[in-house]
Amino acid sequence: MLKNRVVVITGGAGLIGQEFVKAIIEENGIAIIADINKELGKEVKETLSKELKTKNIDFVQLDITSKESLNKCIEYLDSKYRRIDALVNNAYPRNKNYARHFFDVEYEDFVETWRLF
Ligand SMILES: NC(=O)c1ccc[n+]([C@@H]2O[C@H](COP(=O)([O-])OP(=O)(O)OC[C@H]3O[C@@H](n4cnc5c(N)ncnc54)[C@H](O)[C@@H]3O)[C@@H](O)[C@H]2O)c1
Repeated sequence: MLKNRVVVITGGAGLIGQEFVKAIIEENGIAIIADINKELGKEVKETLSKELKTKNIDFVQLDITSKESLNKCIEYLDSKYRRIDALVNNAYPRNKNYARHFFDVEYEDFVETWRLF
């Protein structure tokens, strides 16, 4: 269904992102892991490429909260593939106080984390 389609998965190195990558490869697409975590992104690319015996997984570092980073990501994909067919908006940005106990969450933390989305 996705033969040669370039599908970008923001947060592609994470728990659910990896499942999107697998599903895209199963459908013969090209899965782009676009994640802020360079080390994890590269590791996931290597591991899933071996596991799924494919050369159709790529990694590009991306911070979805930065316009500059988004533009760099688009430039990279444009020069390499000349296309972006689909985007999976899956990244999960959190501020530094994320996962505090409910009663310790400050209004500013709540607002900042939501703004990151
Ligand atoms: N896991 C769940 O139970 C669950 C439930 C409901 C919704 N979701 C949603 O699914 C999505 C993925 O969740 P997950 O559980 O796989 O999370 P995860 O933490 O396993 O993965 C999220 C990925 O996003 C990346 N990321 C964080 N900030 C980023 C940024 N600024 N730019 C680009 N990448 C960034 C992280 O490096 C990580 O690899 C999220 O949007 C989350 O809200 C998850």
